[in-house]
Amino acid sequence: MNKRIFSGMQPTGDLHIGNYLGALKTWARMQYDYEPIFCIVDQHAITVYQDPAELQRKTEDVAALYIAAGIDPEHSAIFVQSTVPAHVELAWVFTCITPFGWLNRMTQFKAKSGQQESVGTGLLCYPALMAADILLYQAGIVPVGEDQAQHLELTRDISQRFNALYGETFVVPETRLPVVGARIMGLDEPAEKMSKSAPGANHAVGLLDPPNRIKKLISRAVTDSKPGVDFEDPGAGVRNLLNIYQAFADVTNDEMKEKFDGMRYGDFKKTVAEMIVSHLEPMQKKYEELTADRDVIRGILKKGAERVTPIAHATMDLVRERTGLYRG
Ligand code: TYM
Repeated sequence: MNKRIFSGMQPTGDLHIGNYLGALKTWARMQYDYEPIFCIVDQHAITVYQDPAELQRKTEDVAALYIAAGIDPEHSAIFVQSTVPAHVELAWVFTCITPFGWLNRMTQFKAKSGQQESVGTGLLCYPALMAADILLYQAGIVPVGEDQAQHLELTRDISQRFNALYGETFVVPETRLPVVGARIMGLDEPAEKMSKSAPGANHAVGLLDPPNRIKKLISRAVTDSKPGVDFEDPGAGVRNLLNIYQAFADVTNDEMKEKFDGMRYGDFKKTVAEMIVSHLEPMQKKYEELTADRDVIRGILKKGAERVTPIAHATMDLVRERTGLYRG
């Protein structure tokens, strides 16, 4: 079996507990059983305008958060997408074989393009770059949150299409969603997924939020009109808080029921907030230490790029051979 895993995050906005529970926590847990590659996808970020200085800073911040969340830079390769130019080279090849209709029906494109006055072509082609990120390393498993599942399906389609046109070249990667926490919803609006770009002040718990703010956010989270937790039939807001607790605590459904069924909302929210704080506090401490010396982060990112570049070059050599792109 292919033991390589690949995943990535955009260095936009502030990372929240949805990013952690849907992705980062799984990455950290899986890393030692696989050959892991974790990327910070700055080229995906610029599909919508980013302030240049802020993008630079956030790219390093996200690298620090990966490590603070448990990614071990000695074992896992951590690097920035734009420092390995083969990503865009392969993305171009994929763009050429991806029918417009496949891209145009992506729900994330529809949602994001609806918010823009002028839509760059890059936003449409975004999933072809994502397919390139993964297939450049022939990664067999991609751990992500549920909102990326459609992009992963497209990656599989692109891989199969390339193989059908040019001969067996790429693996067809598997999507790996966490059992609990694959889709964390907004605290203020539990029908919408928690997102970096949502405007509400009470929408998301940021990974760097201080304990007081976390407690306040959870105490204001939408529940329902029942007096306490109805475990068998919770409203969407209560279900979301239960999911958040369970994903952090790694406990079974039976343990959850035992602990929370019938608990009044005040106590319930206090317990959920404490669970979040107990996980984020050590992460925040580590993050502070790491960002105090940015040279260390820069060194890790440089080393990560050096580790993955030979794999990327080998794939591009094969792609050139298969497609007939000039090799001299
Ligand atoms: P991004 O940066 O939006 O999100 C990073 C990761 O966090 C997960 N996630 C969530 N999980 C649970 N609940 C939520 N509310 C939630 N919000 C976000 C996402 O599913 C993702 O795993 N296109 C990708 C980045 C990317 C990528 C890749 C991922 C680029 N190339 C190759 C995997 C492989 C993105 O924008 O994720």
